[in-house]
Amino acid sequence: MILVLNGPNLNLLGAREPEVYGRGTLADLEALCQATARELGSSATCRQSNHEGQLIDWLHGAEAEGFVGVVLNPGGYTHTSVALRDAVASVRVPVVEVHLSNVLRREPFRHVSLTGAAAVGSVVGLGPQGYALAVRYLLERRPDGAG
Ligand code: DQA
Repeated sequence: MILVLNGPNLNLLGAREPEVYGRGTLADLEALCQATARELGSSATCRQSNHEGQLIDWLHGAEAEGFVGVVLNPGGYTHTSVALRDAVASVRVPVVEVHLSNVLRREPFRHVSLTGAAAVGSVVGLGPQGYALAVRYLLERRPDGAG
């Protein structure tokens, strides 16, 4: 069971800067995550919030809710939020950070990820497929850290 968390402004996918983020909607993205998890015999629960504290609360509760991994796109909080970074570092459930766009090819302020430094790994720039890869990784990973 995977938890997929999308942060601020990702509710506007499809309409928001389509030249950067594509024309797919958040609902499309969530359906892809759910289909990927289902193919692997599991499920994905998808949530979105524009609020930092809500994302932190969901991370804190993930293990108790029975999730084995979290796919997290923190949106703009990636580059600013020490509190969200600390939440990722505080939970035992593995967190994979995902970005639709290749943040490394964009403005310098997007080159730093505070949250990604606390995650087990990151997928950037692969669009919605990055989410599917992250779901697959979390469901297939070896918890001993051997990949
Ligand atoms: C993003 C990249 C962030 O820099 C930006 O603030 C977003 C979306 C992405 O998925 O490419 O909101 O996380």
